[in-house]
Formats: sequence, C-alpha cells, structure tokens
Amino acid sequence: MDQTRLRTEEYEFGVPDSWDRFADVVARAYGGYDAAPAYRAVVAEVFEPKRSLFVRRDGRPCATLALYSFDMGVPGGRRPIAGLGYITVDPTHRRRGLMRGMIQRTLAGLHERGEEPVAALHTTEPAIYGRFGFGGATRAVHLEIPRHARELTISQLEPLLPVRVAEPAECVAHIARIHDGEPDRHPGTFHRDDAWTRRALSDLPERRGGAGRMLCMLAEDSDEGGRPRGYALYALTARWVDSYPRYDVHVREVFAEDSLAYASVWRALLDIDLAGTVIADRPVDDPILALLADPRSAVPVVRDQLYTRVVDLERALPQRGYAAEIDLVLDLIDPDCPWNHGRWRLRTGADGASCARTASPAELSLSARELGAVYLGGTSLVQLAAAGRVIEHRAGAVRAAARAFRHDPAPFCPMVF
Ligand SMILES: CC(C)(COP(=O)(O)OP(=O)(O)OC[C@H]1O[C@@H](n2cnc3c(N)ncnc32)[C@H](O)[C@@H]1OP(=O)(O)O)[C@@H](O)C(=O)NCCC(=O)NCCS
Repeated sequence: MDQTRLRTEEYEFGVPDSWDRFADVVARAYGGYDAAPAYRAVVAEVFEPKRSLFVRRDGRPCATLALYSFDMGVPGGRRPIAGLGYITVDPTHRRRGLMRGMIQRTLAGLHERGEEPVAALHTTEPAIYGRFGFGGATRAVHLEIPRHARELTISQLEPLLPVRVAEPAECVAHIARIHDGEPDRHPGTFHRDDAWTRRALSDLPERRGGAGRMLCMLAEDSDEGGRPRGYALYALTARWVDSYPRYDVHVREVFAEDSLAYASVWRALLDIDLAGTVIADRPVDDPILALLADPRSAVPVVRDQLYTRVVDLERALPQRGYAAEIDLVLDLIDPDCPWNHGRWRLRTGADGASCARTASPAELSLSARELGAVYLGGTSLVQLAAAGRVIEHRAGAVRAAARAFRHDPAPFCPMVF
C-alpha cells in the first residue's frame, strides 16, 4: 500500500486510557455490536492496558490492539508468548496503514524490550496477517456427529469412568486443574489464570445464540474418591423434526488427563438422548476421530485457527524442543524484523538447541511467515516446500528439518483471544 497515506503526525499511538473507550472502538469496527456490560466486564479482567495500543486522531480514538502475556505450550514445554487481539481500525480510517503501524510498533517493542520472542493471534480473515510474518500454526476440524454415527471403538478402554452432569460454577477448580495440564500436552493451549478461566466459563444469555445454558460433564475416578479426570462444557439448542427431538449439542471444550477419561466424556456426550447432532471443533488428530466407528458421517471440515510469528529468532528457536537432532543453516527473509533477516545456524541435540548467525551457505530459505507456521510443530515444512514456499538448497534438508520441527500431538488453540 501507499505508505504516504499514513500521515503519522496526524495520528498519536499510545496506551488506552480506559477499557470502555477501547471496547467502544472495537464495537464500532465490528459493525456496532456492543458487548453487554457483563461481558465487557469479563473481558476487561484479562485486558492488559499497559501493553496494549490505542491510536487517536485529534484526541479521538480510532484504532486498537490488545496485547496479552501468555504462558503457552510450545514443543518442549510452556514458554512466554505474546497474544495479539482486538486489532481494529475505525471504518473511516482504514487502508491508511494504521494496522501496519500498530503491528510494526508491537513487534519492534517486543524485540527492543527483550520480551516474548514469539507472537500469536486469531484472525477474522486468513489473508490479513501473512504479510506481517504470521503463519497458520494450528488447525481445527469441525465435526457434526449425526445420531446414526455414535458408535465408538472403545472395547480396549472399557469399563469407562462414571460421568455426571454438573453446573460449571460448581466445577471451576476441577476445570482449572484439568485444563492446566493442557499446555504440556498440546502446544497452542495456554495457562488460564482465574480471569481467563472466568472468561472461558462465561455464559451470558445474550451470547448463547439461542442455546440453553452451559452445562458441565465430569468423568470421575471411582478409585480416587470421585476425583474428576476429564470434563466437557456444552450447551443444547432445542430442535424438533417431525415431532421428534433432534437437539444440537454444542461442545464448547473437552479436556481430560488420559484416554479413559476422554473416551468416557465423549461417550456421555454422544449418549444425550434428545440429541440429533453433536457439534465440536477439535484438533486435527483428535482421538475422537479414532474413537468414532464412522468418522466420515461427521463430515470433518478443517479450518485455520492460530497464526504465529517469530519475533526474535535468536531466542525463539532455542526456547522450543525438537523431535530430532539437526544442524542446519536457515536463510530467513524478514525485512520487517531486520534483526531476524539473514542466515542462522540451528543446532539441536540432547543438551537443547542453539541458534547463531553464520556466514555458511544456506541449506533452506524461507520467509518469516513460513517459520511462524512451523513454530508450534503443526505445519509440515515438506508441505510448504512442495508448495514452493520453502526452498531447499541441500538435498534432504527439508525432510530433516520437517522431522525436527514436527510435534505430536498437533497443536491446538481453542480459546480465541
Ligand atoms: C482489518 C483491519 C484492522 C485493517 O486495518 P487497516 O488500518 O485498514 O489496515 P492497513 O491499512 O494497515 O493495511 C495493511 C495491509 O493489509 C491489507 N489488508 C487490510 N485489511 C485486509 C483484509 N481484511 N484482507 C486482506 N488484506 C487486508 C491492506 O490492503 C494492506 O495491504 P498492503 O500490505 O498491500 O499494503 C480493519 O479493516 C478492521 O478493523 N476490520 C474490522 C475488524 C477486523 O476484522 N479486525 C481483524 C481482527 S483479527
């Protein structure tokens, strides 16, 4: 775009003075759908005003960017990741470079202050953020499991755990505890403190989209005094077809400490007898796809989810784990973050990983967007190379790097921020 359209002296970039004024700009950008005061209050709790950006022109706010501090799972453990959200620009200030200005300031600020070396965001449209070096890092598979396809292949797991229905408000401690194991199991999920747990459990009537109130199922360990090992949050939408109940069951989240608890929760969800269709967004390699005897009937549809950006390569690559040893020279094309641009030698081994500038010839060339896409271990370098987005200069380098960067299970980020 024509950068001269952004007359920077007309715009003042600073921190937001109030969450409500920030939320007003966000609501305008999304077409005037004001969040109810109760929901604003829930979101306000996770808002980090001192880290966020507010752009004003003539003193009037016209653009927003929220920055969150996450302790997120990456291959190898939990690491600090910066979450970007609520990137909005007033309709009459668009296509002048304000989003670009906010993102560039945010990335440069993280680098200069030595803060999180990786940033992540969810996007309304997949075409927006690749230009800023964000690559599609996690995917979700949308499932609509019909009534006739509820058979599960669970004979190895039986007997299943007993499952009971409960009010979410009574299960907060169990939900927080079980969820807290997730960042170690699935890259892309992040530790939810009390405020983020309240956001995950918020169930305001005006945001239910016609569904009933949120309910909770707990799979309990009968040997351990009923200690819950897995849970589901879900809600039902009443639907009648030819005078028969065919309710939709919307599965908001399912987390479990082990396979038995996981299968037990799913068995109970699929056994809700009013249900016509059980609807869920799950990781692309979710066990439910292997549990369902007839996964085809669920018509799986894959879609993009979290986008990641390596902000500071020198710190980001050594902070994650690798599935194989490699010694590889990467040529990173990253003009927006010139401190990353150029050739780097990545060595991984039993003692961890190191990454340093090198003058050696490149074995792989890729741009920041591709590095962002593979960072959480869910996007294949082989696939990106086959699409011409990664260039191999030494035979075998792509396969070796792909093996090292890959993570099992696939990363997943169901919590939109
Ligand atoms: C998306 C939005 C923030 C863009 O803000 P903006 O200030 O107009 O963006 P910029 O002028 O900085 O554009 C930078 C680049 O992104 C491109 N771009 C902007 N919005 C885009 C979109 N929706 N799809 C594809 N490209 C887009 C611009 O064309 C420009 O391209 P260039 O690299 O060729 O110059 C703004 O349109 C908005 O508030 N939309 C509604 C809310 C929303 O969807 N926010 C995104 C939340 S994840």
